[in-house]
Amino acid sequence: MSNKHLIELTVNGTEHEVVIEPRRTLVDVLRHNLRLTGTHVGCEHGVCGACTVLIDGKPTRACLTFAAQVENTDIRTVESLSNGDTLSDLQQAFSAHHGLQCGFCTPGFLMLAEGFLAENPDAKIDEIREVVASNYCRCTGYQTIVEAIDSCAEQRRCAGCVKMNGVPQ
Ligand code: FES
Ligand code: FES
Repeated sequence: MSNKHLIELTVNGTEHEVVIEPRRTLVDVLRHNLRLTGTHVGCEHGVCGACTVLIDGKPTRACLTFAAQVENTDIRTVESLSNGDTLSDLQQAFSAHHGLQCGFCTPGFLMLAEGFLAENPDAKIDEIREVVASNYCRCTGYQTIVEAIDSCAEQRRCAGCVKMNGVPQ
């Protein structure tokens, strides 16, 4: 008897049906079934954060999540950030502040920051520093990642002021 099940996942706004064993992790399904290879796999046991995606807006370790657990949720991967060839503001900030070197950890940091800033648009730099400590980067020393996220948050706040008042604050 087959131990496979049909599940439905909504990833980056698109619905997918996949037939998988219940033990398959979300990160494996994203990478191998859906070919969304932007989400990386490092430690595979919840420590490094390279596999971070957003589940209903919350940064989540995709290596610790069974795909079958996240039916009927909104899953976002790093592929959702850019618009075609145009990088998102957060991605541009990482580039401008040299928030990456080898780039292996970067998709995880981007999705961690995307989820965090959505919930905490007024985050102080110390809070950003604390949040990024949950993911590993072996290259940058973290300071440039912190600066990139802080700069993106600042830009978004300024954009909000312009929208509300018609003039920069
Ligand atoms: S690969 Fe998921 S936390 Fe390291
Ligand atoms: S940029 Fe290389 S591990 Fe972070």
